[in-house]
Amino acid sequence: MTPSASRPYFATVARGLEPIAARELQGLGASDIAEDYMGVHFSGDRELLYRANLWMRTSFRILQPLREFGCNDVRELYDNVKAIAWEDVLSPDKTLAVRATGGNEALNHTHFTALKVKEGIVDRQWKQFGTRSSVDRDRPDVAVNLHVHRDRAVLSLDSSGDSLHRRGYRPAIGAAPLKETLAAALLSLADYDPSLPLIDPMCGSGTIALEAGMQARNIAPGLSREEFGFMGWEDFDADLWDRVCDEAIAQQRPAPAPIYASDIDPSVLGQAKYNAELCGLDSTIELAVRDVRDLEAPSDRGILICNPPYGERLGEVEELGYFYKRFGDVLKQRFKGWVAYILTTKPLSKRVGLRAAKRFAIDNGGLACTLLRYELY
Ligand SMILES: C[S@@+](CC[C@H](N)C(=O)[O-])C[C@H]1O[C@@H](n2cnc3c(N)ncnc32)[C@H](O)[C@@H]1O
Repeated sequence: MTPSASRPYFATVARGLEPIAARELQGLGASDIAEDYMGVHFSGDRELLYRANLWMRTSFRILQPLREFGCNDVRELYDNVKAIAWEDVLSPDKTLAVRATGGNEALNHTHFTALKVKEGIVDRQWKQFGTRSSVDRDRPDVAVNLHVHRDRAVLSLDSSGDSLHRRGYRPAIGAAPLKETLAAALLSLADYDPSLPLIDPMCGSGTIALEAGMQARNIAPGLSREEFGFMGWEDFDADLWDRVCDEAIAQQRPAPAPIYASDIDPSVLGQAKYNAELCGLDSTIELAVRDVRDLEAPSDRGILICNPPYGERLGEVEELGYFYKRFGDVLKQRFKGWVAYILTTKPLSKRVGLRAAKRFAIDNGGLACTLLRYELY
């Protein structure tokens, strides 16, 4: 089989995770890797595009840019979209969805911008074929993405479709779950080594432990997903996709060390259990209902990682301060030889009472947080 031509792509990520995504792409064999704001440019052939969608743990979407153009106002946008040879990528019998991000003074409403893109596309189709693609927002054959920044716009095809943080199992969601992509990024910042035991003692619906379980067993995060955007494209190569998936399945392995997850709340632990079963990780992760104040280290060395409650109201935050102090004492007294990571807000980060060896600024869905690293000895 001859490889397809190399072309440029853009992997979108949450702010601050660009270097981690770039490392992932390096591991996948991408070329021309260049970090940008909330994304990473790279190049590769179609096989790499499929592998990036299947394997990337921190990216939301892999976009395939089609055209960059000047975009000062609605007219310029419409004309430039209409000038693209849509007949090469979207036949009128296929469905379409348009998503717009960013903006400028003239294009400051993403729904309106997306509508104008759609008009440019379907007006061209109508003129050429006397018929047009219909819109399917949920499951389009072809998803189009437009990003506007100042007076320029990049129009891309979205090869992922649904955001890649949706791993393909429909999770039971706890009160304050982390996005799967962020949990994966935390493990990367923690230099997670699957040969060491890992524990999340405030696991909620289990996101961190599940991501760790997938990494430990070398399970590709997209393997349970049934749909990706590229599957509706004219050039979709089903044999190539099957081969990429078969290779991923062949690379799975047993977890080299135990993964523990616990929470004080039996109902959220039930959710974690349900999610672990959906991911096929129920025999990989040991789950228990436990108050973190009763926690004991299960071995001499390991990684502890968690995001304790943040609290929203002032009184709650004050109350939580004492809880953080108590948690810090547990770490100090019972986890010698371990490395602990705590993701929390700035005011609470000061209440752990231990000296952090390192701090990473983390944007947790718009909430400014810090990941603290403690070396316990
Ligand atoms: C911010 S949530 C963690 C969310 C989790 N990372 C997820 O993705 O679903 C904090 C969790 O700490 C748990 N928690 C609060 N106090 C606890 C305690 N004393 N011992 C153990 N868990 C506790 C809560 O039940 C809650 O599930």
